Amino acid sequence: MYTQALNEKDPNAGKDKAEDPVLEARFQARVDEEMRIEPNDWMPAAYRRTLQRQIAQHAHSEVIGMQPEGNWLTRSPSLKRKAILLAKIQDEAGHGLYLYSAAETLGISREEMESQLLSGKARYSSIFNYPTLNWADMGAIGWLVDGAAIMNQIPLCRCSYGPYARAMVRVCKEESFHQRQGYDIMMQMAKGTPEQKAMAQDALNRTWWPSIMMFGPHDSDSSHSEQSMAWKIKRFSNDDLRQRFINATVPQAEYLGLTIPDPDLKFNEETGNWESGPIDWDEFKRVLAGNGPCNHQRLSTRQKAVAEGEWVRDAAAAHAAKVAARAANKEEAA
Ligand SMILES: [Fe+2]
Ligand SMILES: [Fe+2]
Repeated sequence: MYTQALNEKDPNAGKDKAEDPVLEARFQARVDEEMRIEPNDWMPAAYRRTLQRQIAQHAHSEVIGMQPEGNWLTRSPSLKRKAILLAKIQDEAGHGLYLYSAAETLGISREEMESQLLSGKARYSSIFNYPTLNWADMGAIGWLVDGAAIMNQIPLCRCSYGPYARAMVRVCKEESFHQRQGYDIMMQMAKGTPEQKAMAQDALNRTWWPSIMMFGPHDSDSSHSEQSMAWKIKRFSNDDLRQRFINATVPQAEYLGLTIPDPDLKFNEETGNWESGPIDWDEFKRVLAGNGPCNHQRLSTRQKAVAEGEWVRDAAAAHAAKVAARAANKEEAA
């Protein structure tokens, strides 16, 4: 799962030494020619920071995003659903791992990223700060949140930074399974009893707006977009991607017999687009700033997991040290 890069002020903006114009021109020419930038290549300091921030936010979103779904693991309605959900959540953990590794190639350590997350300073997608109140939420999340992730991440497979682009290829394949398992849950619920259909509608009502906010602020308010486009970190604007998502999703909701909770949603014959009503950006900012319904819970669950896992990490490190010492003794004896 993922969001567009979140708008955040770069605290070091404007503080960089002037870049070497020759190196900078060579870098931009490589980007323009669609060549990948690799970890040991020269890159502008701001490019490096932008990617460190974006990839870390992406990784945090994958990791925190496991919690709303983990909430339903023990209450899945069947063994089959439980196995599917478990596999899906494990995929998200894997996405976090690939992404932290990709960010590390830019010179930031995993420990540093983790401590930023645990201190509450790092941002992650606002969608994961909402509660999951009924089983159909597992369907709505897969269908809409992972669906939005695919829209965002397919273009990232062509991101100019090699390790990030390559990580996205496998992630996208897995997101596609996540989206389908979610839609399948929605389909079963929508075809079920009136109560089950009402649960599916309720899940859609609560998930719709946060999922379209995942594409980030309107282009007119998106401070990093232009530079990220020039660096080919980003290929499409927030509004473009949001529009594609809405166009793809409205017919899917119709097929389910569910109603998108937007009374202003209308089809524009001329453009062929489904036009959305106004988005509540105050809610988006509030949740992103740490004041959503579950921000505190998500962070404290993560902090608790890290603290409770400390003895496991210590034991693993002690075991690894013993194995290494034994191997060294054997070598000496030989
Ligand atoms: Fe996913
Ligand atoms: Fe994911």
